[in-house]
Amino acid sequence: MSSSSTRLIKSVALAGAGNLGASFPEHLLAEGFETTVLTRAGSNKSFPAGVKIKEVDYTSASSLESALEGIDAVIATLTAYDSQTELIKAAGKAGVKLFVPSEFGNVTTSLKEDAHPALAGKGVAHGQLKEAGLPAVLVFAGPFPETTFGVPSFGANFAENKMTIFGKGETPISWTTRREIARFTAHHLATLTSLPAVGEPTILRLEGSSASFLDVVAIYKRLHPTRELDVQHVPLEHLEKAAKDVEGGFLESLVAYLLLSWEQGYGKTDEAGKHELSKWDEWKPQSLEEVLKELTADL
Ligand SMILES: NC(=O)c1ccc[n+]([C@@H]2O[C@H](COP(=O)([O-])OP(=O)(O)OC[C@H]3O[C@@H](n4cnc5c(N)ncnc54)[C@H](OP(=O)(O)O)[C@@H]3O)[C@@H](O)[C@H]2O)c1
Repeated sequence: MSSSSTRLIKSVALAGAGNLGASFPEHLLAEGFETTVLTRAGSNKSFPAGVKIKEVDYTSASSLESALEGIDAVIATLTAYDSQTELIKAAGKAGVKLFVPSEFGNVTTSLKEDAHPALAGKGVAHGQLKEAGLPAVLVFAGPFPETTFGVPSFGANFAENKMTIFGKGETPISWTTRREIARFTAHHLATLTSLPAVGEPTILRLEGSSASFLDVVAIYKRLHPTRELDVQHVPLEHLEKAAKDVEGGFLESLVAYLLLSWEQGYGKTDEAGKHELSKWDEWKPQSLEEVLKELTADL
């Protein structure tokens, strides 16, 4: 850990400690940051000792600006992009030095015009950060394996020994756990010696493991050689239709959009070898095989 007194970033506010964000406080504290969690009134969450909790109202500029006083960096792990929009504006006014917007999945620097609203909000934030004069760090990490394979909606139903693969399932995807994302991001902020230029965000390209859905089948068979996994392939056209039907069901359309985007290569954080993956010698991320072993051990 670098000495916290000589650092560029000493205090960090985490906005939205939910599904992903809950993994951050432990790692921010471990890196020696003064750690604040922003949370809405009535939200009932507990945090490790040492974390400051500030109640905020995302619809009130003054509430956000006063919560961000003295904060060097904001990490947003929100899915509510209207909340993030207000947070970015307030961070710009409060003198925050660096903003890490809510990304943590697919590569979003080359989103198509018809991107699902759940991802379009991420692209919009890039422009908002520039407008607010905020240097930024974008963290791309691919899907979280522990949630993707923990529910059947993404195709794997290991409890019933069934796996649905959309398309051929041959495209490599980057898989990174929430814990590893939090650890890497906290370390990056702790070791930062200069800020990126406004409008030219630093991009972290994380990858715990690289594997296609067919590789996942092979890993599962290696882990459980006596179990028969029934693998069915479904044509991608099914996903294309479902991904566009946002009105018919937001979550269902998002799952379809994500599955389609991974098969099209957007889940691979090095963009098929066009960029280097981000490295840190001490980062020995949990592999996909380890995650699958934990998830399927007691089935
Ligand atoms: N790569 C992947 O596989 C993957 C999977 C899931 C998510 N993600 C990404 O990770 C990021 C965080 O997602 P998440 O699932 O962790 O978020 P989430 O749990 O849905 O929300 C995080 C927190 O946002 C706060 N919040 C602020 N305004 C809100 C509002 N209007 N409505 C609801 N909550 C509000 C809540 O905290 P308080 O109640 O404390 O205010 C909530 O717990 C997103 O960018 C998402 O796309 C990636």
